[in-house]
Amino acid sequence: MKSLGILLSGRGSNFVAIADSIDAGRIPDARIAVVVSNRADAPGIAAARQRGLTAVVIPSKSRPRAEHEREVVAALRENKVDLICLAGYMRLLSPWFVQQFPRRILNIHPSLLPAFPGLEAQEQAFAYGVKVSGCTVHFVDEELDHGAIILQKSVAVLDGDDEHSLAARILEQEHIAYTEAINIVMGGGFEIAGRRLRKKI
Ligand code: GRF
Repeated sequence: MKSLGILLSGRGSNFVAIADSIDAGRIPDARIAVVVSNRADAPGIAAARQRGLTAVVIPSKSRPRAEHEREVVAALRENKVDLICLAGYMRLLSPWFVQQFPRRILNIHPSLLPAFPGLEAQEQAFAYGVKVSGCTVHFVDEELDHGAIILQKSVAVLDGDDEHSLAARILEQEHIAYTEAINIVMGGGFEIAGRRLRKKI
């Protein structure tokens, strides 16, 4: 049985999608050991409590980053997590944090990286005029939205779209993509050559 740790800051729909996948058996042999939020008012943390999961708020506001991160790492260790999923976690992890869990931290980003990293990726993509966007699940490294890509899903930009309708269709794919990516990583049947993740033959 693998234990997941979820880090979030807001709405938490990706967390809920992962939790639903576990409950439905789409992610076999896994449990969510802890959900950590840096914001007490995150709807995602309320959802975690409602599901009866271990939910911890570790505030980050007006605190030194190193101190905040030490507490988050301690909470993840205490709960013996095997894999950490960033799910709308609005904090950049320091190199120290990343090195605590090598190749064990995943992130989801609402664009086809390396296009449109950073905040409001869907709005950036829409404003740029791309015809295809999507989402990316990747390993977290020391750079923002940068580590090796686990999987991507594309979403067509339609003539009638605005940034909100595009973001909503991307979000549907995010919810599917995160489950698939977790299964790929937990299944272990892959190798990473440079930045390229591929199935082991
Ligand atoms: C998602 O669009 C995710 O790709 C990005 O932040 C958003 C989080 O949404 N990293 P939610 O909190 O999971 O609903």
